[in-house]
Amino acid sequence: MKKTLTILIVSILSIGIARADEGMWLLPMLQKFNEQAMRNIGSRLTADDIYNINHASLKDAIVQFGGGCTGEVISDQGLVSTNHHCGYGSIQRLSTPEKNYLEDGFYAKSLDEEIPVPGLTVTFMKSMSDVTGQLEKLDDKAREEKIKEIEKAASEANPGCRPRVISFYNNNVYYLVVYQVFNDVRFVGAPPASMGKFGGETDNWMWPRHTCDFSLFRIYADKDNNPAAYSKDNKPYKPVKSLKVSLKGVSEGDFAFIMGYPGRTQRFQTAAQLQDMVDINNLRVEARTVRQQVMWEEMLADPVVHLKYANKYAGSANGWKKWQGEDLAFRKLNIIGREEQKEAALTKWIEKKKSRREAWGDAIGTIDTYIADRQPAYRNAILVMETLGNIELIGKLTGARGFREEDYDKEVDRKIAKAVTRFYLQNVKPEDKIQLKDRELTLENSDAFIDRFFDNGTEQDAKDLQTAIYAAMGVGRGNAADEGYAAYQKASKDYAAALLAWKKGEPSYPDANFTMRLTYGNVKPYSPKDGVSYWYYCTANGVLEKENPDDYEFRVPEKVHRLIEARDFGQYADKDGQLHTCFLTNNDITGGNSGSPVLDADGNLIGLAFDGNWESMSSDVMFEPDLQRCINVDIRYVLWMIDKVGGASNLIRELEFVR
Ligand code: ARG
Repeated sequence: MKKTLTILIVSILSIGIARADEGMWLLPMLQKFNEQAMRNIGSRLTADDIYNINHASLKDAIVQFGGGCTGEVISDQGLVSTNHHCGYGSIQRLSTPEKNYLEDGFYAKSLDEEIPVPGLTVTFMKSMSDVTGQLEKLDDKAREEKIKEIEKAASEANPGCRPRVISFYNNNVYYLVVYQVFNDVRFVGAPPASMGKFGGETDNWMWPRHTCDFSLFRIYADKDNNPAAYSKDNKPYKPVKSLKVSLKGVSEGDFAFIMGYPGRTQRFQTAAQLQDMVDINNLRVEARTVRQQVMWEEMLADPVVHLKYANKYAGSANGWKKWQGEDLAFRKLNIIGREEQKEAALTKWIEKKKSRREAWGDAIGTIDTYIADRQPAYRNAILVMETLGNIELIGKLTGARGFREEDYDKEVDRKIAKAVTRFYLQNVKPEDKIQLKDRELTLENSDAFIDRFFDNGTEQDAKDLQTAIYAAMGVGRGNAADEGYAAYQKASKDYAAALLAWKKGEPSYPDANFTMRLTYGNVKPYSPKDGVSYWYYCTANGVLEKENPDDYEFRVPEKVHRLIEARDFGQYADKDGQLHTCFLTNNDITGGNSGSPVLDADGNLIGLAFDGNWESMSSDVMFEPDLQRCINVDIRYVLWMIDKVGGASNLIRELEFVR
């Protein structure tokens, strides 16, 4: 009895109070939704300190790094930190077997040693404003025109900026977001991959953790401090705002928040959509297992191949492992069942009132029918893409953009091509099989076919193969499901609108869509399963515990080993005398947040977010308060690596410390 009463009281209290941990909040809504709740659990900041479009605020120090990561400005000289795995592709492209920055690490000891990275951009967000009112009553065509008009006006009002109208909540809400893009970005420093990627794929997505996942870049600007293409006359950018770096360390329960650019979540999708996603991802996992196995063997056998394929491998393996964890978590946490319960409750609520039935009708049914109709063609497209679509020689012979000769090894590609083609043929339905001009591709002739293509293939052969692949993927071919696409879009919008109306009055946040968000919570340990509890931090002792010179993923450079053994941590040691490597918070992040600053109650930098944990890999779909954690590298581990191991005191001197 007493218990029931408590539960009742607790649940009443929790209505209308934003959860501390769940939520990728929109910055313009902070004051309304989050400011007080943040202060209640320890924040000393106002919404205005974080986001203000008229004076400098924290958001001016947070950047989108490249297309898919986050970084932060940490000095008044435009120095930017992000994750090692975010700088990885750039560092790999700048490396050669002779100057292997990826393998050996690198620190510029002066500005003129910094290395331009062609194609790399850093983007600031200047402002965000709700423009839904101007767009919601329009049909598709009129809306598109209005969007162009809004962007054009914003472009004139903000010279040198890139305004974009972006949709939220499945097209129910629109914001005008004004960006400023810098494209002279230079590589400043990174630890060797053995540290920046310590633990490799084995530790990826897992706790406990000892990865020193950071890299450093610098933004350059023209003489007026504006974005400009690379020029040797460009100067380090003078930022509006840069973060102070805290040496204080973290304790359990400390307030912590993260700002960054989360990529994609699926929190406004139906159970059928989610099941479809998991099924497709499982197929991807199988195909990638085949490709990665061949690639990894070749990489281990030859350091030159290793460098060429390091980035391709890491990209493939990251999704591959994430989806395996996702599948496990979906089952263990009954994600589909819980989603179905939510749908049933929503449906009941809609059906109670005529006006609701008229507004949202059978949105769920329409979505689910579309997903079912689309399934065979979608599966086939993904199967082709993840197999034949990965034969690099096609891109080489057709002169595809994005093909890089420097990263290519024909014999590795040939072996991969044979393996993935066999996998394709084992899994494709006979009626969907790729149509070649002169023969039917079979398991019996596939190796010979690949050999012929690799030995004598012409540009025309490659084009023919590509055309056949596109046809099998259904590119340009309408199918039954495509005809339902408009209705599906409308139903998705209705579904999100219904969910919002159902929870009206509660703070809400839209799915991640690569726009800037904030998530807040605490430093917090967790229990992964019965009888096991994890600490909320790891120390350098674990680096030595995991060390294994015979395992590529767990090599420790001699100097790192020696300094840890000597306990030479300098000012970067915690008050307990240890060097803390990584720590946990209950923040709500996803891919794209990588490299995001973890900030304390005063907005000082305490770490870089870089991963999620294995037990809650369904987190893009549903937040798990008890299980879900964000894995962060302690900023003091980063600084120790730069200073004590790397000897780059020039960079340390640029920073402003809080002690
Ligand atoms: N799991 C990390 C993320 O998605 C990426 C880690 C990259 N490291 C790796 N071993 N592949 O942000």
